[in-house]
Amino acid sequence: MGKGSCVTLLLFIGLVSSVYSYDLYKDPSQDVEARVQDLLSRMTLAEKVGQMTQIERGVSNNSVVKDLFIGSVLSGGGSVPDAGNTAEAWQDLVDRLQNDALSTRLGIPMIYGIDAVHGHNNVFGATIFPHNVGLGCTRDPDLVKRIGVATALEVRATGIPYVFAPCIATCRDPRWGRCYESYSESTEVVTSLTDIILGLQGEPANKTAGFPFVADSSKVAACAKHFVGDGGTTNGINENNTVIDYKGLVDIHMAPYFDSIAKGVSTVMISYTSWNGMKMHANKFLVTQVLKYNLKFKGFVISDWEGIDRITSPAGANYTFSIESSINAGLDMIMVPNNYPQFINGLTDLVKGGYINMHRIDDAVTRILRVKFAMGLFEKPLADRSYSKHLGSEEHRSLAREAVRKSLVLLKNGKEAGKPLLPLSKTAAKIIVAGSHANDLGRQCGGWTITWQGGNGTTTKGTTILDAIKGAVSPTTQIVYEPYPQPGFAQSQGADFAIVVVGEPPYAETFGDNLNLTIPEAGIPTIQNVCGEVRCLVILVSGRPLVVEPYLPVMDAFVAAWLPGSEGAGVSDVIFGDYDFVGTLARTWFKSVDQLPMNVGDEKYDPLFPFGYGLKMGTPNSSGGSINFMRRWRLLDISCWAVPLIIHMLKL
Ligand SMILES: *[C@@H]1O[C@H](CO)[C@@H](O)[C@H](O)[C@H]1NC(C)=O
Ligand SMILES: *[C@@H]1O[C@H](CO)[C@@H](O)[C@H](O)[C@H]1NC(C)=O
Ligand SMILES: *[C@@H]1O[C@H](CO)[C@@H](O)[C@H](O)[C@H]1NC(C)=O
Ligand SMILES: *[C@@H]1O[C@H](CO)[C@@H](O)[C@H](O)[C@H]1NC(C)=O
Ligand SMILES: *[C@@H]1O[C@H](CO)[C@@H](O)[C@H](O)[C@H]1NC(C)=O
Ligand SMILES: *[C@@H]1O[C@H](CO)[C@@H](O)[C@H](O)[C@H]1NC(C)=O
Ligand SMILES: *[C@@H]1O[C@H](CO)[C@@H](O)[C@H](O)[C@H]1NC(C)=O
Repeated sequence: MGKGSCVTLLLFIGLVSSVYSYDLYKDPSQDVEARVQDLLSRMTLAEKVGQMTQIERGVSNNSVVKDLFIGSVLSGGGSVPDAGNTAEAWQDLVDRLQNDALSTRLGIPMIYGIDAVHGHNNVFGATIFPHNVGLGCTRDPDLVKRIGVATALEVRATGIPYVFAPCIATCRDPRWGRCYESYSESTEVVTSLTDIILGLQGEPANKTAGFPFVADSSKVAACAKHFVGDGGTTNGINENNTVIDYKGLVDIHMAPYFDSIAKGVSTVMISYTSWNGMKMHANKFLVTQVLKYNLKFKGFVISDWEGIDRITSPAGANYTFSIESSINAGLDMIMVPNNYPQFINGLTDLVKGGYINMHRIDDAVTRILRVKFAMGLFEKPLADRSYSKHLGSEEHRSLAREAVRKSLVLLKNGKEAGKPLLPLSKTAAKIIVAGSHANDLGRQCGGWTITWQGGNGTTTKGTTILDAIKGAVSPTTQIVYEPYPQPGFAQSQGADFAIVVVGEPPYAETFGDNLNLTIPEAGIPTIQNVCGEVRCLVILVSGRPLVVEPYLPVMDAFVAAWLPGSEGAGVSDVIFGDYDFVGTLARTWFKSVDQLPMNVGDEKYDPLFPFGYGLKMGTPNSSGGSINFMRRWRLLDISCWAVPLIIHMLKL
């Protein structure tokens, strides 16, 4: 036989065998469920356990993903490619890991996940949107949905198909360090803003309850978190205990999950917290019975970072117990994230020993594969580099600027009725801009920006509030900037007015827990020094309401800007009157911390500014005038409102 005929024969054998080894799961024309079942039936225990394992980028070198069939890799806050924090380096990283996953026997793609909680916040140059606490004040589901669309494009620009967002916590206590990740203390507001899922994933054409849906590769899989009761802990202590009866848990904290699931959310992340003393990561009733059976959620359930470790105290004290109780509770994918040998060996042994049955493993893997098939990951596993242009695009920055404008809440305008300070004059001769947060991009972005805790200064690209003010005023207006003005400074300047920007430093999670909620750093002396000497607007940059009652009398005007993100021009757009204020409080503004927790609808409700409060400019009585104020109440539920409203009116 000559060489030529040998090649022909081999080709023929190859053709025949490829026809006979038709892999149904690889056929995109097949139904998702059929593909899942076909693939599942081919998998070994090691391959299944691998799918259930999510590891950190930092430990995800080549051989690991390939040898252990790893199903998912993540970047924790601030975990960026070794080659640099650029779109290209991210694409290279994700593709390299993906090619490792694809080179395994069955070629199951891994899914790369990241916390994109206010835009693609780990990535240098990405658009940083306001944190959720600000978005809640917009009451604008369409805006939030458009932010979802933009965020999905920016995340895809780095080759990533999965985000750990949105946080749909109902934060009931601003002392909680994650309160800014929550849209509101009101379940209804949180629920209405789950429309961000429709932006991130696309609109499900078929609203089959619970079925994961990701429209195409311009969209990303989303994650509703943290199931459930994360925002209801005692004294707002992060990861602590939420003490509430089942009806309260459902009505206040679980309701937004109904909508998220109906909107096709692909994944749900479990909360570090406990419910009435029992760790959520080990709560079979809530995860399996309620979430999977009652709510018919068909996507996968993921743990939080080392969430199963914390089932025991101290964390990791009995990791075998952590694995057994979490997997048996119904968790499908574990964000290990570093000690994967211990997890993989532990889970394998528990299955072999009969402590976790194969049904449970198959349920987990079915759900993970279902998401991967439903989102088209098998067909398009690699980065589409044509998306790079979306990262930090002008269009997205303009959307973020709109979001900033709409999230601002005007709480005071003028010391006397009929004498408002706002809108400010763009043609003033001289303006003082003062305070630690006036010219600090990192501080206006807050935590979860470039790094987990966020940072001060020019950590990424954007416009500070000072730069925005400079850009808004007339060329002849002189601006004097002083971050830490001493007594006498403001008076000595002979300025028309001052803009004071103070607030909280960046923080995330437990680092943000705070029992006193006072304006930190030099915020208070800055307000006192400047506002005592010249007419002033105070802009508070913070992740939550802070104690302001004692300083309110000295302020001429007061605006809550929350954590606006990279587009400071949204602030100047409004304070100089190009747009009016539309934001209204999505959180109760307390007078003193000993009132906490205090939420709208509470029997004892005596706020400084009630939930729903927010002024407009220029109306004669906007400086606290009751007529304007009453018109702006959002009457969500008259029974909640009648009592506090009457109390408030009697006081005016
Ligand atoms: C990958 O990481 C593992 C454990 O961290 C290590 O044992 C292995 O040598 C690494 N492989 C490569 C190719 O770097
Ligand atoms: C929606 O999808 C489900 C499950 O695939 C199917 O049974 C149902 O017929 C679909 N409904 C419509 C309106 O297409
Ligand atoms: C809640 O916090 C307290 C005080 O730090 C701590 O002793 C307790 O163990 C925590 N409870 C839970 C369930 O985390
Ligand atoms: C750890 O947990 C496992 C599994 O639940 C249990 O069998 C074992 O006794 C525990 N070990 C200790 C030291 O408590
Ligand atoms: C930011 O500035 C504050 C006050 O100056 C300081 O306490 C804090 O450590 C700084 N944070 C970083 C990350 O530099
Ligand atoms: C308020 O609490 C924070 C966080 O615990 C702490 O860092 C700060 O020093 C406290 N401030 C005051 C004025 O007590
Ligand atoms: C504004 O308030 C004054 C007195 O407080 C009242 O007489 C006047 O009618 C109010 N004007 C409007 C437009 O509400």
